Amino acid sequence: MSHAGPSAAQRFYGRWARLYDVLASATPGLARLRDLAVDRLDLAPGDTVVEMGCGTGANFPHLRDRVGPSGTVVGVDFTREMLAQARDRVRREGWTNVHLVQADAASFAPREPVDAVLATFVVGMLDDPAAAVDGWVDSLRPGGHLALLDAAQSGRASAWPVDVAFRGLVLASTPGDRSGFDDPPWQVLDERVAAARAALAERAVDVADSEHVLGVVRVTGGRVP
Ligand SMILES: C[S@@+](CC[C@H](N)C(=O)[O-])C[C@H]1O[C@@H](n2cnc3c(N)ncnc32)[C@H](O)[C@@H]1O
Repeated sequence: MSHAGPSAAQRFYGRWARLYDVLASATPGLARLRDLAVDRLDLAPGDTVVEMGCGTGANFPHLRDRVGPSGTVVGVDFTREMLAQARDRVRREGWTNVHLVQADAASFAPREPVDAVLATFVVGMLDDPAAAVDGWVDSLRPGGHLALLDAAQSGRASAWPVDVAFRGLVLASTPGDRSGFDDPPWQVLDERVAAARAALAERAVDVADSEHVLGVVRVTGGRVP
């Protein structure tokens, strides 16, 4: 979640990969939200799904469950240490059809069109989230699905304490030097999440949006015509 360039984000996530893995896998309620996002992909056994910014692979169990042993899961991330955690998970589980790629998710394009693309807690880190979403949509086969799971300020009057806590969390988890920001990082995050969701809504049909945790968490999914 940053204004910082890729190297600052990579250093940040590189340093915190182990702790991130624990939080990403064990935070109460998060597994249900991951499941909800994966539901939007409408996966079937044998499908191929790409997860952009897969981190330590906390979504892999949900994705692997849906595509089964005959399907394929590809996790893309640019932070070596996050991928190392993901690789440990894949090895522990004995999955042979979960593959990892170290690459920039903003420009990564699979060789063949895929059935689904997932990005969870990632678009807020991209300089041009709308362009990334466009590229992800382009990588889908006709009828393929894209789903986004993100956190942003709720904006609901009744949720102000949650928004205050959220701003603190964004500040603490923003990579790089925070002193040179023009705008507060939570505002940038809100704008990026909104831009990504708008890009998805523009390119997809049957778009389904839902809000959770007092409006702080959003799940958006759609199908490419
Ligand atoms: C907040 S973590 C989310 C990880 C995972 N999606 C999850 O839900 O637990 C963000 C991840 O996105 C990765 N990331 C951020 N920008 C990226 C980019 N441009 N290309 C590839 N990975 C990126 C970071 O390395 C990090 O692992």
